[in-house]
Amino acid sequence: MTATVESGRSVDLPLLSVESVDVHLGRGRRAAHILSQVDLTVRPGEILGVIGETGSGKTTLARTVMGLADPSQGEIRLQDKVISSLRGSARRDLRRGGSVQFVFQDPLRSLDPDLTVEQLVAEGLVTQGQASSHEIATRVREALGWVGLDESLLSKHPAQISGGQRQRVSIARALVLRPQLLICDEPVSALDSSNRNNILRLLDELRTSRGLSVIIISHDLSSLAGIADRVLVLYRGRVVEDGPISEVFARPRHPYTALLIASAPALSDQLADQRPEPSSEQHRPLHVRQLRLVDADTATVSNDLEAGCVFRARCRFATDVCGTVPAAQDVPTAHGGGWRVSCHHHSTWRAELEDADRPRVPARPEPLPH
Ligand SMILES: Nc1ncnc2c1ncn2[C@@H]1O[C@H](COP(=O)(O)OP(=O)(O)OP(=O)(O)O)[C@@H](O)[C@H]1O
Ligand code: SF4
Ligand SMILES: [Mg+2]
Repeated sequence: MTATVESGRSVDLPLLSVESVDVHLGRGRRAAHILSQVDLTVRPGEILGVIGETGSGKTTLARTVMGLADPSQGEIRLQDKVISSLRGSARRDLRRGGSVQFVFQDPLRSLDPDLTVEQLVAEGLVTQGQASSHEIATRVREALGWVGLDESLLSKHPAQISGGQRQRVSIARALVLRPQLLICDEPVSALDSSNRNNILRLLDELRTSRGLSVIIISHDLSSLAGIADRVLVLYRGRVVEDGPISEVFARPRHPYTALLIASAPALSDQLADQRPEPSSEQHRPLHVRQLRLVDADTATVSNDLEAGCVFRARCRFATDVCGTVPAAQDVPTAHGGGWRVSCHHHSTWRAELEDADRPRVPARPEPLPH
């Protein structure tokens, strides 16, 4: 892939670029505005974590990249090819080519119960219709090896193998087509914690060994913190923050990201262990009670994604200016790679908390005891 030089460093150009994408779902008057002005990039060998509460548009974003939903505005590029405008046979060819693959949340539901593991993994190659049966058999075994599965499973059906093995079969089905980008929608939420860690470790190994780029949609912030390079935070269809995961999680710039992190106790513990100076004001952990608006649950939320900041009704730092949509602004990163946040008060809201927490100094010194 083409390389460019930035600050004296050689960096890869993005594999995937999503630019100013809007998505409406449903027809006519019932069409709902699901994504607004979404921008993201994924570089070769990079893992991007996508987080956000239920209904924020994570799956819609993945489906749009896969060509299963059409943007009403904006552009999606794979390397230098615009894929969002492909239709009909051109889109089918792209899908069959297999350069972007999707791994579903629940392998039991997404795998045909009547097919064997061998048939399931071979399916994409058979549909492509280009490889000989000998080649298909070889590539199926190769893909199973990549995901750490034994050939003895080839004749089994999905119901005869464990949940962790089924998820590995789903990943092998995708890998057999030698994709450049793998999109995993909640790949571990149906698994127990040991299988969860194994699958995430596998994705991490695959990006190193195969140079694969991976998008992982997950509610599990602490698992993502262990493997993702970057994180993109969605709230009600808008990207509110996007940056290097270690920096975003250590010091989030958007009040919603801060609330998500404070609400994930396992992640907070993990971050506390990594923090070099626990007492540093810069990195002082924030608590849900500091960030949450008291009447957040009863606040009236507008469905109009263009009517000001999408987080306004739940944000305790909102002011009048938040009635306009905040533009994404760059904030400095320690290690490069870009960090963008969409909040009018991204550089000042934290100081409000710090001021409120600071111990009050008595107006006059106390008289000394005699
Ligand atoms: N076909 C559709 N027509 C209209 N609205 C839809 C359609 N599909 C999804 N939506 C709405 O789009 C919004 C985003 O849904 P999406 O499934 O992308 O969210 P999500 O972030 O993946 O949520 P979850 O974490 O629950 O999986 C939701 O409000 C959902 O109700
Ligand atoms: S723009 Fe305003 S309402 Fe939105 S997150 Fe920032 S402070 Fe809160
Ligand atoms: Mg979803």
